[in-house]
Amino acid sequence: MTSYMILKHLHMTTAYLTITLFALRLLLDAVGRPGWRQTPLILLVAAISLVFVAGYASAMPGWLIAKIVLLFGYIIAGVFALKTTLGKPVRISAAVLALVQVSVILHLAMTKPF
Ligand code: HEM
Repeated sequence: MTSYMILKHLHMTTAYLTITLFALRLLLDAVGRPGWRQTPLILLVAAISLVFVAGYASAMPGWLIAKIVLLFGYIIAGVFALKTTLGKPVRISAAVLALVQVSVILHLAMTKPF
């Protein structure tokens, strides 16, 4: 297996794992049991390595730039969604926003439309 394939599989696995854990934390919070917090560090390390190994570093395609921008939006919305000190309407709106953004990230990753 080439390093590209290894990194791509690591990136995809950690991406799906991160989304599952985020959804799980939303569920735990919803039932009144706010739990652990984690940073998707492996996802980011694999993603950045993949950009170089796949040769996207010199001329980044639009879908990749959009993914990176949306990732920041997803992280910020995710932090607000899990903040127990905030009111329910704010947290629910933030959770919806985070899930919409991560869905768009997945769509962009799979279709690479531009
Ligand atoms: C929550 C955030 C992210 C998710 C859910 C995600 C998801 C994915 C998925 C599912 C693929 C595989 C697509 C396919 O079927 O070919 C992929 C590929 C890729 N992602 Fe991400 N990604 C995320 C963040 C990032 C970030 C921040 C970067 C860059 C710093 C990045 C760079 C890449 C690259 C370079 C590929 C390989 C494209 C290819 O050559 O086929 N991803 N991503």
